[in-house]
Amino acid sequence: MKNILITGGAGFIGSHVVRLMVNKYPDYKIVNLDLLTYAGNLENLKDIEKKSNYVFEKGDICDADFVLSVFEKHQIDGVIHLAAESHVDRSISNPMSFIQTNIVGTVVLLNAARKYWGENMTGKRFYHISTDEVYGSLGEEGFFTETTSYDPRSPYSASKASSDHLVRAYNHTFHMPVVISNCSNNYGPNQFPEKLLPLAINNIKNMKPVPVYGKGENIRDWLYVVDHAKAIDLIFHKGIDGETYNIGGRNEWKNIDLIMLLCKIMDEKLGRTPGESASLITYVKDRAGHDLRYAIDATKLQDNLGWKHDVMFAEGLEKTVTWYLENSEWLANVLSGDYAKYYEQQYIQR
Ligand code: NAD
Ligand code: TYD
Repeated sequence: MKNILITGGAGFIGSHVVRLMVNKYPDYKIVNLDLLTYAGNLENLKDIEKKSNYVFEKGDICDADFVLSVFEKHQIDGVIHLAAESHVDRSISNPMSFIQTNIVGTVVLLNAARKYWGENMTGKRFYHISTDEVYGSLGEEGFFTETTSYDPRSPYSASKASSDHLVRAYNHTFHMPVVISNCSNNYGPNQFPEKLLPLAINNIKNMKPVPVYGKGENIRDWLYVVDHAKAIDLIFHKGIDGETYNIGGRNEWKNIDLIMLLCKIMDEKLGRTPGESASLITYVKDRAGHDLRYAIDATKLQDNLGWKHDVMFAEGLEKTVTWYLENSEWLANVLSGDYAKYYEQQYIQR
């Protein structure tokens, strides 16, 4: 495979995947298709944008003519599909855009691949990136495996579950060579500051209240974004057609414990007296339908493809905080758009 289409490559995870692929495979052409919504930012790719094996195409995955034209123009052999609306809170206030991008957009891409690749799809690959949230919510025990029944409970996770089903349906019905992975919560540089960790880092830095939903007892399983990108590279090249792989770092944190740890790191980094950052923690109204716990069992990926995560949490969190503190211009730029309006609606009017 030489010409790879990566959708959503200007977003958080997508930009790390594009960087890895462009640097690791100089003989591939990496085509980044992204609409540059509020979450997409070409600044994320400044270090590789001039490389000869990288091309950017601005457009909407829901635009069938445009998507097909990109397949034809760049003679696409493989797809790594990350473009999506990705924030649960936004899916609660505006579900329709999630249905459009995550479901309709995925089908538009599948149709374009099918049309361009024709009947004989040997050597082609459509890789769909999904989330552990499709499996629903765990109690105190147990882990999500690849055979856990789907039980999505937010408009975001329901739209991702729907797209996963459609990708599998194209595999079964049309013999499209697909592979799917479902990953736990990612953290790291370049994440849009609507998500918990960058939002908290930014607020702590600016001595603003740090909003913790409910009692802060919800649990997430955190993986450093570069480890996710490496897993995607491995699955794209070595995964078996039609298979699903769960990705996660066995790194569960209760939200309040995570925020307390972050506050401690921020006190040290900013030279504050111990406890100063933690005094900003503010419990706010819970998210509607808030899933209690996600936890991934990544044994299949480890045993079958030899994957393991490289970055330990203490190191990854430290790196992430340092990146946000050193990239205040990036932060100022992404916060300058519609973010203030979103923040007002999500937190001030709550
Ligand atoms: P993100 O919101 O940071 O980035 C999404 C990207 O998609 C942006 O660049 C945006 O401009 C682009 N996009 C949105 N709508 C588009 C459209 N209609 N056409 C073209 N481009 C469009 O998201 P992320 O956190 O990087 O997540 C990437 C993928 O990984 C998503 O599919 C998400 O469901 C999945 N995922 C995310 C996490 C996580 O913790 N962030 C975990 C597991 C899986
Ligand atoms: P988030 O980063 O939105 O990821 P997801 O909902 O996809 O897991 O949220 C992570 C956890 O943090 C989740 O349990 C919700 C919680 N949360 C807060 O407590 N406060 C916040 O301001 C945000 C954005 C999230």
